[in-house]
Parts: sequence; C-alpha cells; structure tokens
Amino acid sequence: MTGPVEVVPAAVVAAVRLAAFSALGASPGGVNASDTDPSTRHTGVRLDGDLAAVATLTREASPRNAFRPVWRVRGMATRPAFQGRGLGGLLLAEALTHVAAHGGGLVWGNLRLAAVPFYERHGFVVADDVFRIANGVEHRYGELTVPPARSSST
Ligand SMILES: CC(C)(COP(=O)(O)OP(=O)(O)OC[C@H]1O[C@@H](n2cnc3c(N)ncnc32)[C@H](O)[C@@H]1OP(=O)(O)O)[C@@H](O)C(=O)NCCC(=O)NCCS
Repeated sequence: MTGPVEVVPAAVVAAVRLAAFSALGASPGGVNASDTDPSTRHTGVRLDGDLAAVATLTREASPRNAFRPVWRVRGMATRPAFQGRGLGGLLLAEALTHVAAHGGGLVWGNLRLAAVPFYERHGFVVADDVFRIANGVEHRYGELTVPPARSSST
C-alpha cells in the first residue's frame, strides 16, 4: 500500500537514489553536498512500509535564471521495481505544492534526458541543449515558475 508523502532525513535518501541510478549503469553517487544544508527538504513515499521513492528540494540558485525565490529539484529517484506507478509524480507534485505554499518561485533542475518527459508533464519548460554532468550522463536544464498559493507563507 502506498503511504503518504513524508519528510525524511538526508541519511535515508542516498540508498534509494543509488538503487535508481546504478540500475541505469551510471555511477552518480547517492549523496550531494547540499543534502545536509538546513534549507534542504527531502521527501519520500513508502510502499508497504519500505521507502520506494525520494525527492529533494534545495535552495540552490539557477545557473540560467536570476529569478528569486529559487528552488532546485534534485536527486529524484524511484526504486527500479516501483517506477511507472506514479510515486515520482506524487513526490514532484507535492514538492511543487510545498513551493507554492511557501511563497512560490522558480523551480529548476538538471534533468536526465530520459526523464525529461516526466518533468514536462509536471509543467517544466526544458532547454534545447544537452550537457553532461560530472558522471557523463546527458541532461537538459528545465524550469518552471510556481505562483504562490493564496494563503502562502515564506
Ligand atoms: C524519473 C523517476 C524519478 C520517475 O519516477 P516514477 O515513480 O517512475 O514516476 P511516475 O510513475 O510518476 O511517472 C512515470 C513516468 O516517469 C518516466 N519514467 C519511468 N521510468 C523511467 C526511467 N527509468 N527513467 C526515466 N524516466 C522514467 C516516464 O516518463 C514515465 O511515464 P509513463 O508512465 O508515461 O511511461 C524514476 O523513473 C527514476 O528514478 N528514474 C531513474 C533515475 C532518474 O532518472 N531520476 C531523475 C533524474 S533528473
């Protein structure tokens, strides 16, 4: 049974990321320096009690857009056996709702090429150029502007 989206500690997200990314043959490492920043927010969703998918929101500046406030979506990962069941979509939608509830702003990410349609379905506008991140995996830059929710706080 799918649990609710919950805020999870940084320590638990790496294992899910590693499971998702190593299945692709990439070796990205499961940990980002921003994971332990106090402003970083990790969320996860469980299937039958086990953490099946994770998402991370950081407050990192966009390399392509000076708009503020700014949020970065990072390290989204669903364990391979559970991909395509809507868990990633649940987490991304919740992250965008969180941004709206906290004043809205620019949300951006470096998006793995194969995952671009997933982000586009959630409203991201994706740049044409393709670049490789440090591990050699091809990505595109994507962003969207989230309006503040009516009763949002910052
Ligand atoms: C991208 C990812 C986080 C989406 O999570 P999910 O739980 O599968 O997402 P949902 O079930 O809500 O959405 C499914 C959509 O995600 C995409 N997707 C599914 N499996 C995917 C995969 N292995 N790689 C990339 N995208 C995938 C497809 O667009 C799919 O659409 P479809 O249902 O029409 O086929 C997840 O597939 C994953 O962990 N992929 C590998 C790691 C990755 O690419 N992370 C994102 C880095 S920017």
